[in-house]
Amino acid sequence: MKIVKKTSELEVLVSLFKELGLKIGLVPTMGALHNGHASLVKKAVAENDVVIVSVFVNPTQFNNKNDLATYPRTVEADCALLESLGANIAFTPTVEQIYPYPDTRQFDFTPLDKVMEGPMRPGHFNGVAQVVSRLFDIAQPNKAYFGEKDYQQLAIIREMVRQFNYPIEIVGCPIIREADGMALSSRNTLLSAKERQIAVRISQTLAKSQSLLKEKSVKELQQWVIDEINKGGELEVEYYEIVNGTTLQPISSWNDCDNPVGCITVYCGKVRLIDNIQYKK
Ligand code: PAF
Repeated sequence: MKIVKKTSELEVLVSLFKELGLKIGLVPTMGALHNGHASLVKKAVAENDVVIVSVFVNPTQFNNKNDLATYPRTVEADCALLESLGANIAFTPTVEQIYPYPDTRQFDFTPLDKVMEGPMRPGHFNGVAQVVSRLFDIAQPNKAYFGEKDYQQLAIIREMVRQFNYPIEIVGCPIIREADGMALSSRNTLLSAKERQIAVRISQTLAKSQSLLKEKSVKELQQWVIDEINKGGELEVEYYEIVNGTTLQPISSWNDCDNPVGCITVYCGKVRLIDNIQYKK
């Protein structure tokens, strides 16, 4: 595996791959890699001739300076893992390599970016679109891989590809969970052992809510999930929305759509965790 730090170096390699007619898979990450990322890389390795994994903590998607400063960074371990998974290139650029000049582009993904994480993290999805479009332009992948844990992000990236006609197939990959159900996340490393034990209530409550779908209205189920997670006072739900899985707009009846998704954000101490459930009707 080659570690590439310079955009110009990656561009030269990419044009060579293109000349050779090789299919390129891209896995964009912010590092602190775990088995969730590993599942994306494995899929990419199975489906492409060349796999590029970017490891870049993108400052433009953080609306909170402290969150950016404390975001876990483990680039050496990340590269070792990527090599063992069969990735061909780890792209580990500096901020200047991705943004040689300030990125002032403003994206509009209405209505997808006007709900849930949108108002909670102003500018977040604009920053995600900035970095992902830069990575698409540099790596020119045939396929790009994203996790379904960031359900809203995945919908927005699909919309960006549609709006800008990128000739790229977006591959969504299922959430990978610990044995107890906790969704894998780089942010889990910021939890104390005690917090980690408490945080499992998020995924367990979501899983339980599936069995109550037939007996509760959307509003009742939404409130039940919030109350279950908040009880005890150790966790604090920021939002729990049950939305149409395509438009991301809140639904009021189970008949409103075929693919209802429950999206949640919860504070466990200072750590902000997200998860979701794709309900089966
Ligand atoms: O999901 C992430 O880790 C990031 O938002 C992404 C897509 C790598 C862009 O920085």
